[in-house]
Amino acid sequence: MASVPSLASTVQQRLADALSAALPEAGAADPLLRRSDRADFQANGILALAKKLKGNPRELATKVVDALGDTKGVLKDVEVSGPGFLNITIGDRAITETLDARAADERLGVPYAEKPGTTVIDYAQPNVAKEMHVGHLRSAVIGDAMVQILEFAGEKVIRRHHIGDWGTQFGMLIQYLVEHPHELDHRSGTDDTAVSGEEAMSNLNRLYKASRALFDSDEEFKARSRDRVVLLQSGDDETLKMWQRFVDESKIYFYSVFNKLDMEIHDPDVVGESGYNDMLDETCRLLEESGVAVRSEGALCVFFDDVKGPDGNPVPLIVRKSNGGYGYAATDLSAIRDRVQNLGADTLLYVVDARQSLHFRMVFETARRAGWLNDDVKAVQLAFGTVLGKDGKPFKTREGETVRLVDLLDEAIERASAVVREKAETLPEGDRLTEEEIAERGAQVGIGAIKYADLSTSASRDYKFDLDQMVSLNGDTSVYLQYAYARIRSIIRKSGDAEPVAHPELELAPAERALGLHLDQFGEALAEVAASYEPHKLAAYLYQLASLLTTFYDKCPVLKAETPEQVENRLFLVDLTARTLRQGMALLGIRTPERL
Ligand code: ARG
Repeated sequence: MASVPSLASTVQQRLADALSAALPEAGAADPLLRRSDRADFQANGILALAKKLKGNPRELATKVVDALGDTKGVLKDVEVSGPGFLNITIGDRAITETLDARAADERLGVPYAEKPGTTVIDYAQPNVAKEMHVGHLRSAVIGDAMVQILEFAGEKVIRRHHIGDWGTQFGMLIQYLVEHPHELDHRSGTDDTAVSGEEAMSNLNRLYKASRALFDSDEEFKARSRDRVVLLQSGDDETLKMWQRFVDESKIYFYSVFNKLDMEIHDPDVVGESGYNDMLDETCRLLEESGVAVRSEGALCVFFDDVKGPDGNPVPLIVRKSNGGYGYAATDLSAIRDRVQNLGADTLLYVVDARQSLHFRMVFETARRAGWLNDDVKAVQLAFGTVLGKDGKPFKTREGETVRLVDLLDEAIERASAVVREKAETLPEGDRLTEEEIAERGAQVGIGAIKYADLSTSASRDYKFDLDQMVSLNGDTSVYLQYAYARIRSIIRKSGDAEPVAHPELELAPAERALGLHLDQFGEALAEVAASYEPHKLAAYLYQLASLLTTFYDKCPVLKAETPEQVENRLFLVDLTARTLRQGMALLGIRTPERL
């Protein structure tokens, strides 16, 4: 495995060297290289430099070109233009040779991060005994993509699914189960087929509704439920056993949804809120002893200068309530201690709804004051926006209820299957898909569509959940990318004896150059995405790759190219494009079927 420096980075380096040779007084200056329509690249850095040195930019630019010396090879042409830009054209040979080196590497020449660290990522965190909704979808989809992207960069990634499995709401449920002990019994004895995710959730829903009704109508049951909370918190055996049954039943449901989402979740990574119960006392003690937290009206609180309520009074982070109970914040603070001190993390990444940003801001600041976070250990919230309905309002059913995630996934799969079937009917006889294949592709396209729609806009923005748009064959959708991939695979299947072989001696058409230069940018795009936690930039990179491929097809016949060498070279180009698409999509958690 060998990493391949991109042409852009080679040019950048050559220009930087020429800059300091021509203008030693400038020190290390950035040539500010970017892709350009006029040539392959344009460097704008000389303008600012001339201003600083009070020189004539065109003269300086000419000096830099002279310092570059012989520009044959990578740099085919360097031209001073406008007020003092450099227009740079790369040699065709250099493009093909670089791509050939990428093709020879399993990682497509993408380097590992120079200093990989350990990231604990907190994502896909649904709540026990509750239906999953679109918010949980976003966390799971974005989180899973970040896991893949970071691991590909060489980072050690530890996953944590901080499920909501603790709190006073369990008092009512457990008490009901204690009084109706056979309500969750369906599995034992009857038959050996495991209960499905759907069934598990409907059992939980039924129990929830029944216990809620009793809680609201029966004062004595209410009182018994409250006592049950106390028993739960004090670790009473029977109570904990009942609680565990809710957790287990919920996990069956969670796993079925993650499975449908084509996402791997491993049991040891599911460490819910209850996993930190043993640390809560100590967390509070440490915060109080260090003076980070103070008692206020009986509660243990942390105050912030810049966090005030609408009345202008400070709003504290409550670490322990006045009744002695611990909440969400105490758990998150304990989780930070665990992740930093026991798991050895230097980065904590939280993929959580933007509506929890204030909570995390306060939690992170508290942890910093306590010394658990510092210059070497950082915490970041990858905050995501709200999923909206077509009407632009938070996504709800017509009855105003939250939309069940499974229903959405099923609908997406159904729509996608229809699209796949329709398209399949246009295929020549030999390429037709069987019903089984249509179902499999339908799932891959439908789930891909949902993931891509989520990942292709900046996470922090709200987005409209529009299935029609998501499964459309045109535009910035995963289906478009999947078809681009399948189309290449079909060409390669039809290529007969011709192999994908690079021919650096061939001249390249403009559409080939554009495609090739973009392919060469894959590693840089990935590095940026990994550093900024912005998977939408990978989606944008891939969409552009597919668009450049479409233009290439329009202009450059592959199997009917003029010479056998050209056929081979074009096969080589599309093959590398397919591999890059496949790798990029895999990092986003999206399948690329061989035939569509
Ligand atoms: N379970 C929470 C919810 O559904 C998300 C948990 C986020 N992670 C955390 N460490 N607080 O909103």
